[in-house]
Amino acid sequence: MNLILLGPPGAGKGTQAKRLEDRHGLKQISTGDMLRAEVRSGSEVGLQAKAIMERGELVPDAIIIAMLAGRVAQPDVAQGFILDGFPRTVPQAEALDLMLKEKAMPLHHVIELQVDDVALVDRISGRFTCAKCGEGYHDQFKPLAKHGTCDVCGSGEFTRRADDKAELVAARLEAYHRQTAPLLPYYAAQGVLRVVDGMAEMNEVARQIEAILGDKG
Ligand code: AP5
Repeated sequence: MNLILLGPPGAGKGTQAKRLEDRHGLKQISTGDMLRAEVRSGSEVGLQAKAIMERGELVPDAIIIAMLAGRVAQPDVAQGFILDGFPRTVPQAEALDLMLKEKAMPLHHVIELQVDDVALVDRISGRFTCAKCGEGYHDQFKPLAKHGTCDVCGSGEFTRRADDKAELVAARLEAYHRQTAPLLPYYAAQGVLRVVDGMAEMNEVARQIEAILGDKG
């Protein structure tokens, strides 16, 4: 099964993509994670992307589309994928349509996580990640079971994203509404858009997504 999770920064795309990966054996493809890996490696793409990401703006389509095309060509996504953070513009969506058509891969569902903008500042500014295993947490909504220790791997080292500052959230939201929200009518016209309540508690959001995946109609 091939899915897109669509929603503004902090909507819960990464959280739900991880659950779908575990439950359905699908591969999460996060263009944000890929870009952050490029930045860490000091590659040319990373150097170009770093300043743009730190301003909360979108990286140019040509860079992202080339990066995504390389990832979708890898054999591990043949069982199905969850796109998290891609596409983010109409040209990216058009490029994806072409890529999937060439590979005869269907797009089963585009799932919009609907959230209120005001909730996103709290979600984003409270987020942190285990530096060792990458497990995601939140100061308020998903705290560590034991203070200072990762629930999954026991590490005591955590990181916070450079773009997760409250003052950058407005720029990231503005980019979402101006450049990414036009994808909602785009996918509605294709008949693949489904909506879940991203304001609900994480398990309830997961339940709503499972209901969509189980709905053969
Ligand atoms: P990217 O990494 O894709 O970030 P984003 O879209 O801004 O989304 P986030 O990762 O911030 O949020 P999320 O929806 O995954 O939420 P999460 O599950 O973590 O992109 C970063 C940057 O890279 C962009 O700004 C851009 O510059 C560039 N980029 C990436 N892709 C690009 C593209 N295609 N084109 C151009 N540029 C691109 O949840 C957030 C927090 O809330 C977590 O702490 C979580 O625990 C908590 N939470 C989750 N669900 C719930 C819930 N239901 N209730 C309460 N808390 C919850």
